[in-house]
Amino acid sequence: MQNKKIAVFGATGKIGLELIRLLSLAKIDTVAVTRNLRRAVPHPYIEWIEADIAHKNSLHAAMKNCSAVFLLSGNSPDFIKEQKNVISTAKELNIQYIVKLSSGAADKNAHFFIPKTHGIVEDFLIRSGIHYTMLRPNGIMQNWLGDIANSVRKERRFHESTGDGKRAHVDARDVSAVAFACLTNPAKHYDKIYLLTSDRALNYYDVAEAISKAIDEEVRYIPISLQQAREEMERQGMPAALVDTFISYDAAQRNGETQIVTDCVRMILEKPALTVEQFAKDYATHFQ
Ligand SMILES: NC(=O)c1ccc[n+]([C@@H]2O[C@H](COP(=O)([O-])OP(=O)(O)OC[C@H]3O[C@@H](n4cnc5c(N)ncnc54)[C@H](OP(=O)(O)O)[C@@H]3O)[C@@H](O)[C@H]2O)c1
Repeated sequence: MQNKKIAVFGATGKIGLELIRLLSLAKIDTVAVTRNLRRAVPHPYIEWIEADIAHKNSLHAAMKNCSAVFLLSGNSPDFIKEQKNVISTAKELNIQYIVKLSSGAADKNAHFFIPKTHGIVEDFLIRSGIHYTMLRPNGIMQNWLGDIANSVRKERRFHESTGDGKRAHVDARDVSAVAFACLTNPAKHYDKIYLLTSDRALNYYDVAEAISKAIDEEVRYIPISLQQAREEMERQGMPAALVDTFISYDAAQRNGETQIVTDCVRMILEKPALTVEQFAKDYATHFQ
C-alpha cells in the first residue's frame, strides 16, 4: 500500500525492537531502520533498511511511502543534527506525523546535554508543522539490565548515588506499547507531550527488594556519593557531557525532585503500568 507504511528509527534498540514486534503482530507494513543489517531481527510485515541518520541522503529511500515515523536514536555528539535530518526529510516527503522518543527532562534551555538536545529537537519538530507526539520516559527500568544486573550477578549487591530518593521508572515495554498506540491511532495523539512513568515512585531499596524476591536471594542496595558515581562513569570512559547529565539526574532524585507519577501509560494503554515486581520477575535470569 502506498503512503501507509511506518518508519521506525531505533528499531534494534530497547524500545524499537518491541515496537516492531507489535507492528508486525498487527500486520502493519513497517520500515525498520538500522545502520547495520546484521542487527536486523526478521518479522512478518517488517522490511529492514540500512540507513544512517548522520547522512541525510540515506534517508529518502528509508522514509519514502511512509505516513508516520517513530524517531529514536542514541545520545551521539551530533544528536541534534542527526534527528533534524529525519524531521527535514519527513517534511520533504510530506509525512504527516512523527512520534519522537524524548527525555523526561527535555528543555531547550536546560544546562545538561541530554535534556537540552532533546529540547532543541522537540522545538524544531514543533516548528516544522508536522504533527508530533513527544514520549518522555522519566527513566526506563531496562537501564537496570546493565551495570546493576552485572553487579547483582557477581556479588548480590549494587551501587547507586540516589540515596533514598525516588523515581517512577517506566518499563520500556510500556513505552513501546504507547508508541504503538500513537502510531496506529495518530489523530488522537496529535501534538501531545506525554511524560511516561510507572504508577509508583521507588527508591533503590525498593528495587533491591523486588529483585531479591524475583531471584529468591538477598540483593542489597549500597548507596554511594555523587562523587563516587562520577568517578565510576569516568573510569568507564563515558563522555563528560553524559557524565554531567547522569549525575544531574541522580542529584535530582537524591534531592526528592523526581517522584512524579503520571497517568499517561494507564490512560493510553487502558491498563496499569507494568510494575517493578513484574519487571524483576520477567528479567530474573539477567540478575541470577
Ligand atoms: N534510558 C533511559 O532511561 C531513557 C529515558 C528517557 C529517554 N531516553 C532516550 O532514549 C534514546 C535511546 O536511548 P538508548 O541509547 O538507550 O537506545 P538504544 O536502545 O541503545 O537504541 C539506540 C537505537 O538508535 C539507533 N541509532 C543510533 N544511532 C543511529 C544512527 N546514526 N542512524 C540510525 N540509527 C541509529 C540504533 O540502531 P543501530 O545501532 O542498529 O543502527 C538503535 O536501534 C536516547 O535518545 C535517550 O536520551 C532514554
